[in-house]
Amino acid sequence: MNSKEWMELSESVVAHTYARYPIVLSRGKGTRVWDVDGKEYLDFLAGLAVCNLGHCHPKVVKAIQEQAERLIHVSNFYYIESQIRLARLLCEHSFADKVFFCNSGAEANEGALKLARKVAHEKTQGGRYEIITMDRSFHGRTFATLTATAQEKYHKGYSPLMPGFKYVPFNDAKAVRDAVDSKTCAILIEPIQGEGGVNCPSEGYLKALREICDEKGILLIFDEVQVGMGRTGKLFAYENYGVVPDILTLAKSLAGGVPIGAVLMKKEVSGGFKPGDHASTFGGNPLATAAGVAAVTAILEEGMLENCRKVGGYFLSRLQEMKKKFPFIADVRGKGLILGVELTLDGGSIVKDMMQRGYLINCTMGNVLRFLPPLIVTEKEVDQMLVSLNEVLQTVK
Ligand SMILES: Cc1ncc(COP(=O)(O)O)c(C=O)c1O
Repeated sequence: MNSKEWMELSESVVAHTYARYPIVLSRGKGTRVWDVDGKEYLDFLAGLAVCNLGHCHPKVVKAIQEQAERLIHVSNFYYIESQIRLARLLCEHSFADKVFFCNSGAEANEGALKLARKVAHEKTQGGRYEIITMDRSFHGRTFATLTATAQEKYHKGYSPLMPGFKYVPFNDAKAVRDAVDSKTCAILIEPIQGEGGVNCPSEGYLKALREICDEKGILLIFDEVQVGMGRTGKLFAYENYGVVPDILTLAKSLAGGVPIGAVLMKKEVSGGFKPGDHASTFGGNPLATAAGVAAVTAILEEGMLENCRKVGGYFLSRLQEMKKKFPFIADVRGKGLILGVELTLDGGSIVKDMMQRGYLINCTMGNVLRFLPPLIVTEKEVDQMLVSLNEVLQTVK
């Protein structure tokens, strides 16, 4: 079937929860993907920060193949080799002492929120349960994570939302301090906001949050679903800021494209979860965690973090040059290979024009072009994409 036929069939049988672009992708390799009609695209979206290693990384493919031949799934009633291996790898390379596995970012955040409440419940007999989150945050689509997501557009039609959440502006430590009261149990924050427009923390902000948490005896939770796994040039985004959370969530790129989520936690809080308190049928399943071991190993051993820092720095400086040329570019920001270009106008048509020219990019919040290429992207590929972006921006009125 060609693209048109697939799209017609999709409209008739797949729920309409996505405003899709008119392409049907069928194959990927490294930084490139191809649609069913054979058209090639350079991918600066990477499955929305999932394909950090590039598409179909050979080590991930091999790990999936080998694991699929041995054991695809067993229950968490039993110990699972690759789950243990992945947990050990994550603990060795982070602040964490323990890991809980699940299947998505929302589910990881659900786990983190439940853990924070459980820990507080035991300490204060239910007195502390409230979670503070930031305006423009994005934490997922389940009821708790949707409520944690402080963006009204996602809440519409779903009331009543879950009780126990409070919102404050991003990058305003005083607002957090003022919001903490005797009911607060945790602060949940993306170290860099992704969906909210690639918003970076200002100097000292995350440190101030850590101080507030320590002072008040509450937990600091970092949602690194989008910015973890090397995206910022360090394995975990928190490493850039010298601030260690109590709990950290991962998903997206953790298993190189296989669905997975994880809650990383310090031993001081891990006791909050006792057997039976939290679970997931597929969480930490042999296939996903075997892919995870291969993905984390590849990120660490194949120079991807270095490449991310080098190409990310180059990319950012090229975008800053572009800002001088186009008055409708209000700001350029980001870290590593999560970069945003804020426009004073709608960016939707720019994404479509770029797609027609063979480049997948994204626009978030309506006016922030977001670039999330695989961590293996080269300066040459960045240059190639920017030639087209420059041409498209010249047509913008
Ligand atoms: C920071 C952040 N948290 C959570 C999520 C939700 O992840 P998932 O779609 O896997 O549930 C996302 C998804 O974009 C995200 O960017």
